[in-house]
Amino acid sequence: MVKYETKPIAPGFGVAISGLKIASGESDNLIAEIIQLWHDAGGIAVIHDQDLTSEQHIAFSRHFGPLFGDPLEEPLQSTVSRYIHPEYPEIYRVSNKVDNEGMPLGRKGAGTYWHSDVSFRERPAQASLLHGKQIPILGGDTLFADQARAYEALSKNMKVFCSSLFAWHDFEDAARSQYASTVVVEEDMAGGNRSLHPVVRTNPDTGRKSLFINPGFTSHIDGFTSEESESILAFLYGHCVKPEFVYRHTWREKDLVIWDNRSVMHYAVMDYSDDEPRYMERCTVIGERPT
Ligand code: SIN
Repeated sequence: MVKYETKPIAPGFGVAISGLKIASGESDNLIAEIIQLWHDAGGIAVIHDQDLTSEQHIAFSRHFGPLFGDPLEEPLQSTVSRYIHPEYPEIYRVSNKVDNEGMPLGRKGAGTYWHSDVSFRERPAQASLLHGKQIPILGGDTLFADQARAYEALSKNMKVFCSSLFAWHDFEDAARSQYASTVVVEEDMAGGNRSLHPVVRTNPDTGRKSLFINPGFTSHIDGFTSEESESILAFLYGHCVKPEFVYRHTWREKDLVIWDNRSVMHYAVMDYSDDEPRYMERCTVIGERPT
């Protein structure tokens, strides 16, 4: 039996796991235990000190489900294809580093806004597994907001109202405001990156309901005027990221952080300079259609 330690990292949200080497081939029981700990902790697990190769990272991530970029599955949006690992299409690289020719080794400034990964797809991301390979001495934290507790904290009437709503998640809309127009690939503007999802979804693995809208990719609430939609979203966005729902992760090198995009939003804080290299690799698990 493998021994490891667990520790809560924020009240009711997140677990840190140490003393475990997931690269050494895990039993089905151990994987099931880790996934259960992750669910019980509201969809955030930090596994410290993982010396993972890209292959090991992919192999571990596959236990959560099929991966974006797997040649048998759908890719991430084409706009980020230049940041996909050249040998491993399942790995998306986030970095401010460049190679000898000045080419980026990853997407700089990825996720510097509240979002849920790939929420604009019909089947958005379930887990994301981000491996911190090089971390700035200071800065470069990632914020996580618990959307199950955000939902649970609403009044009964607001819960009923939100549960009647559907929202559009639209890459094109996001791209126009967040991506420099020169790097947006036109095919991403087609309908494949635009989906209508319920504003309250139920996580099939935990049975918990959570809010599922995010400033990064949600364009508007269906069936309302833009003024009405903006007001509803403004209220919800203010509510969703109240400090009591947020955990701020200060990275240690070799942390593997796993979050559940169905119930957690995240925000990468870009407060470090290019003299401070940051290099992360992410596997992104394809989820189910939100219900
Ligand atoms: C992401 O949105 O996956 C990037 C998170 C980070 O770099 O901290």
